[in-house]
Amino acid sequence: MRLLVTGAAGFIGSHFVRLALHRAPGTKVGVIDALRYSGNRSTMADFANQTSFYQGAIQDKAFVDQTFSEFRPTHVVNFAAESHNDRSLVDNSDFVQTNTYGTQVLLEAARQHRLERILQVSTDEVYGSIDAGQFTEHSPIQPNTPYSASKAGGDLLCRAHWVSYKTPVIVTRGGNTFGPYHYPEKLIPFFLVRLLQGKKVPLYGEGSQVREWIHVRDHSAGIWTVLESGLPGEVYNVGDTNERTNLDVVRILLDELGLGLDRVKFIPDPRKGAHDARYSMTTTKVRGLGWSPREDFEEELRVTAKWFADNEEWWRPIVQNPGYESFVKKFYGPSLGEDL
Ligand code: DAU
Repeated sequence: MRLLVTGAAGFIGSHFVRLALHRAPGTKVGVIDALRYSGNRSTMADFANQTSFYQGAIQDKAFVDQTFSEFRPTHVVNFAAESHNDRSLVDNSDFVQTNTYGTQVLLEAARQHRLERILQVSTDEVYGSIDAGQFTEHSPIQPNTPYSASKAGGDLLCRAHWVSYKTPVIVTRGGNTFGPYHYPEKLIPFFLVRLLQGKKVPLYGEGSQVREWIHVRDHSAGIWTVLESGLPGEVYNVGDTNERTNLDVVRILLDELGLGLDRVKFIPDPRKGAHDARYSMTTTKVRGLGWSPREDFEEELRVTAKWFADNEEWWRPIVQNPGYESFVKKFYGPSLGEDL
């Protein structure tokens, strides 16, 4: 196998590269990343000399063609994405460009270069919100934010390329993922870096929304299993059974850091109508391929909190970046006020 991983300087992509190098030693691994705001060279430091790095964006057709010609992948796994719902509510053009059109560029290149497999890493958010019960791979696609709609567009293109051209594409839909190297804009890493800096954390509404959490190592291993054993043209949900309200998650983080609930500021929900109340999905299909999650949620959440406490040199340059500071100020300034 010659494996090309896009978005490798990001959170889940970087963990997947580590897992691939471990599970299949000797595999030629190429990595692509545009190194936009959430992609960090430092995230790839430990595997940089075992991989070939190509800097560019998946929506850049000339770059993708050139990279495919040079690296000659047999398998591609696409993690490259704009992935933050809040950013997509402010401006969604980059989301459509990367998540929808970028996927189309990769699918075309997969066809031209006759890949054996292309795996599209997607999200449970394409199903929308579910108050009771669980989504299956056959549930309707009903995304509620520009982010999830742009991912759904990518998923539908995967389906169309399978049906139209028999491009050997598989889609995985993952749950809310957590662990080390998580860019500090999502709930867990954002709250951790703020708490570690002595700041308050902005919890939307009453913190009552439910997310189904999966550790990044389990998510990566699920994707690896699907890459090896999944059927082309199919969709596989990759999730764990850890349903928690946001407030429950935050209570564990506070407890691990020895802090109290006074560090939480409940703010008016900035996602308004687009705030999905609950995610939950069945994973029978991927378990049928021999995968099951191994990590304990609460234990690993505490390990993640410790990782952020011990790895300030990784996140400090990120939070000091003017672009990062200006988004936080613009998005949270009005509701956090003097607690910003
Ligand atoms: O379900 C998979 C999805 O999970 C992925 O596709 C997305 O890329 C990933 O960002 C995540 O989406 P969410 O919107 O669920 O994740 P986020 O961490 O942004 O928010 C989790 C919950 O926490 C959500 O109910 C909103 C709430 N929240 C989030 C932030 C950033 C807060 O209360 N305060 C915050 O500052």
